[in-house]
Amino acid sequence: MRRALGNTGVALPAIGLGCMGLSDFYGPPTERRAAIRLLHQAIDLGVTHFDTAEIYGIGSTNEALLGEAFGDRRDKVFIATKFGPLRDPATGESLGIDGSAKNCRRAVEGSLRRLRTDVIDLYYLHRVDPKTPIEHTVEAMAALVAEGKVRAIGLSEASADTIRRAAAIHPVAAVQSEYSIFSRDIEASVIPACLDVGASLVAYSPLGRGMLSGRFTKDALSGDDRRNAVPRYQGDAYSANIALVDEIQSLAAAHACSAAQVALAWVLGRGEHVLTIPGTTKLANLETNLGAYGIALADEETATLDRLADRVTGNRYDEYGMTTING
Ligand code: ATR
Repeated sequence: MRRALGNTGVALPAIGLGCMGLSDFYGPPTERRAAIRLLHQAIDLGVTHFDTAEIYGIGSTNEALLGEAFGDRRDKVFIATKFGPLRDPATGESLGIDGSAKNCRRAVEGSLRRLRTDVIDLYYLHRVDPKTPIEHTVEAMAALVAEGKVRAIGLSEASADTIRRAAAIHPVAAVQSEYSIFSRDIEASVIPACLDVGASLVAYSPLGRGMLSGRFTKDALSGDDRRNAVPRYQGDAYSANIALVDEIQSLAAAHACSAAQVALAWVLGRGEHVLTIPGTTKLANLETNLGAYGIALADEETATLDRLADRVTGNRYDEYGMTTING
């Protein structure tokens, strides 16, 4: 199943690979050789869309990993990366968001070097900088397109207003936001704005960071796993949310498939404008996720799943994270 990426003329398999978890946020990084093996296996399985960011992995190690894995097979992959949020390269501490032209220029040069390429297929503003008018940021990104360093531009977790203002300056190929059975806040205004400006929606965390896979247990989280700080992963909220996943599980049982596949089929079923990038560090899970192409949900099943989001307890980000979305 291939889907057009905005109005770029490029079509991509609807399921890509979110690469963040190989280096960051979900516990210790995957060992380098194992990570490279997984990236190569993904290509062999037909995955082309790989998503990374400057801030994934302390010292941008996730981009460097992709550069190492794809250096000799650049023509087989579509690489998306992002800039804007800053992190201390030594400690990983968050240092705010910089959407200035100067930072855009600095960041792209580093990303190109680490990715071992002379062009980035899709370059996103990772979070909107409230101090920099979006027009200024997009002008800087458009200059990179004109120079051939970037093929298309995108925004991540941007508001409808920002998407429209950005698109007035330069075509926006994609908006990347969290979107899943449990996280549908972008349906109110962000997705309509995407449709208006012709941008694809790239759904990240389509498995709710693992919770929707039906195979998730909180006990397995390591102490430094960032999900520990996510409200819907905490205490009573977690118990209530995991109970909702049982409803996905029973629907999956009827299809003799996994809850992860149902969760991905739901996302893909939202329309032609949606692509998704589930993250995994394991070949078996990658294969399962790609199996979602073969799952067709009946309308009444979709309606059942549609009713779950309103019953989810807790925010999808911690307090700081919530201030950076819908920017
Ligand atoms: P993100 O976009 O942030 O990566 P996600 O795609 O919603 O979030 O979920 C990623 C999480 O789901 C990861 O913790 C991943 O764990 P593994 O690296 O162990 O696979 C987990 N995950 C992905 N696919 C899965 C599957 N098919 N079954 C169980 N867990 C899965």
